Amino acid sequence: MAVQISPSILSADFARLADEAKAVEEAADWLHVDVMDNHFVPNLTLGLPVVEALLKHAVLPVDCHLMIEDPDRYAPAYAEAGAGSVTIHAEAAKAPVRTLRAIRAAGARSGLALNPGTAIQPYEDLLGEVDMVLLMTVEPGFGGQKFLDMVLQKVRRTRAMLTARNASRRPAGYPEPGLGEQGREIWLQVDGGVSDETIERCAEAGADVFVAGSAVYGAQDPARAVRELREQAERATARAAWSGAVNPGA
Ligand code: DX5
Ligand code: ZN
Repeated sequence: MAVQISPSILSADFARLADEAKAVEEAADWLHVDVMDNHFVPNLTLGLPVVEALLKHAVLPVDCHLMIEDPDRYAPAYAEAGAGSVTIHAEAAKAPVRTLRAIRAAGARSGLALNPGTAIQPYEDLLGEVDMVLLMTVEPGFGGQKFLDMVLQKVRRTRAMLTARNASRRPAGYPEPGLGEQGREIWLQVDGGVSDETIERCAEAGADVFVAGSAVYGAQDPARAVRELREQAERATARAAWSGAVNPGA
């Protein structure tokens, strides 16, 4: 699975969102949009009307990260609006199977996010319902926080789980390793404090989708920052043991 970079517009200028989206469109894979409700996290950002407005202008697919209470009620609408990926928090969902299925049914990739203190093991049985696991590498709520190294152990553990799972799901003789149910690969995203100082550790531990807010929009040239982060992550992935297990001989 190739490295993907998802710049977070939380660190962009909210009054110029369309321009800020454009600034990374040649370089990035996704546009990460942080929806916060001031209940699940102590911060309030934007909601569905702003996402709908952004979708009209954004060329990149939108990666919605919902840091909200009651995602079971609100998440499907983001997929119906046209987001390419919708991620809900395990700590907030009361009916995750139903909600993750509704997200997929509306045509988006389904994501399950875990806070730094939430273990992955209780969610192993849910992996069949998800297209991406998001491991928070800061407590959610704000951009520009310090990366939490303690989460790297969980990244390794989750990568091992995904490798085993994806391999066992692969039909005999199927050429592409790493495919989950529905023929989709389960991606592993990290979010929070991802920068030129931390991205290599994340990639080595097994992440393949990298959210970066301040490291991209705090840079003079956001597109260049994305390219540099990608190069670093690709180099680190190439030397990581887990990528050899996923792509033997690569
Ligand atoms: C934090 C958000 C992140 C945030 C990351 O709760 O989920 O997406 O934008 O910002 P940085 O990269 O600055 O830590
Ligand atoms: Zn986020």
